[in-house]
Amino acid sequence: MLPIQDSVHIRDATLSDNVGICRLMAEWPQGSAATAAATGAGTVKVRRVAECNGEIVGLLVGHHHFNGWRMLAGYADTPPHVTGSLITELYVRPDCRRAGIGRALIASFIEESAALGRKMVVAQLDESESHLPHQARVDFFRAVGFAWLTPTSAFLPAGRQLMGREPSAAL
Ligand SMILES: CC(C)(COP(=O)(O)OP(=O)(O)OC[C@H]1O[C@@H](n2cnc3c(N)ncnc32)[C@H](O)[C@@H]1OP(=O)(O)O)[C@@H](O)C(=O)NCCC(=O)NCCS
Repeated sequence: MLPIQDSVHIRDATLSDNVGICRLMAEWPQGSAATAAATGAGTVKVRRVAECNGEIVGLLVGHHHFNGWRMLAGYADTPPHVTGSLITELYVRPDCRRAGIGRALIASFIEESAALGRKMVVAQLDESESHLPHQARVDFFRAVGFAWLTPTSAFLPAGRQLMGREPSAAL
């Protein structure tokens, strides 16, 4: 593990980060599909980066207007004005992993979600990432306080799995 934790800075991405973000995403099989979102296209509201020694080494993409409650068993009656936060992309450069960067990116997002009064933070896992075994991703999300959400199958896109946690619970 790299001793990089102290030199990592978590901050919102700016347009000038797009080259660094594209470079980071290029090595991720899922990255080509995710790059448009990661560089700010579409409806993405949060792009948070981890910077270490002038390089972008981690990225979290998400938003705070999740309202797909009908996808989740037990939440179908949630009123439409109640919103949650959704993490759509989370990536840390392989040589920088296990140094707390993923946790720090998640913590920053959860803190914001709590400050906005959101009901839940949802994380979207899928099967297309080949760099990290599925179980390792599940272990990561469990380590940062997420638990499985039960989908109401009709509404969840194929291959998607969701985990969630309250924004207010301690990380
Ligand atoms: C998942 C990912 C973001 C984790 O980032 P990271 O910076 O390495 O995570 P952290 O160092 O903050 O890990 C926090 C805790 O999560 C758990 N964890 C992290 N990676 C793990 C792994 N490969 N296997 C098992 N547990 C893991 C550990 O409990 C870890 O604490 P520890 O190192 O003190 O034991 C990173 O591995 C990654 O980018 N993977 C590829 C993309 C991906 O799968 N994204 C997930 C959304 S689809």
